[in-house]
Amino acid sequence: MSSTLTKRKTAAKRSSTKQKTKRAAKKHTSAQNPKSKLYASLVVQLLSLLKGEHDLIANAANFSALLFNSLPNVNWAGFYFLHGEELVLGPFQGNPACVRIPMGQGVCGVAAQQCETIIVPNVHEFPGHIACDVASNSEIVVPLFDGERLLGVLDLDSPLIGRFDDQDAEGLNELVTVFVGHEEGLIDDHG
Ligand code: SME
Repeated sequence: MSSTLTKRKTAAKRSSTKQKTKRAAKKHTSAQNPKSKLYASLVVQLLSLLKGEHDLIANAANFSALLFNSLPNVNWAGFYFLHGEELVLGPFQGNPACVRIPMGQGVCGVAAQQCETIIVPNVHEFPGHIACDVASNSEIVVPLFDGERLLGVLDLDSPLIGRFDDQDAEGLNELVTVFVGHEEGLIDDHG
């Protein structure tokens, strides 16, 4: 084999290895990384928990238990549902929490008012944060919508600073979409 051909083959091999590495890296950053895999498995588990059951409270309770027991470093997971102008505590796992949060107050009230997911890396730096558990250091709040209508929020706390990232936001949004899709039409019965 001529040395040129060997070089070409080696270069081709290197480039194919590079491409494979790139492809693997891309896979790793999307569906295959541990966090995405965990959320994908949670969607499957949630669907199985919801199957055949349409009681909002029971389903929200099981959903919060699923999150609390499956997501690492979470010390509170649960719901606040919108009742008039305030959020009222729903099913949750963790320490007892404040029952009523006015719109625009705390992380939950701000997320509800702005209708967007809020990730707070350090709750002690969030103006107006409502401390329900002294162990909480970071938080994520995901609003629940039935179409355009705000139904409430899903709230998760962690003792770790910076526990939640965009992947958590994406995964949790997917889960609440599955949940609300299943509960459609039932929220009014309890609101
Ligand atoms: N920290 C929240 C209040 C709810 S508890 O974390 C369960 C907030 O600031 O809205």
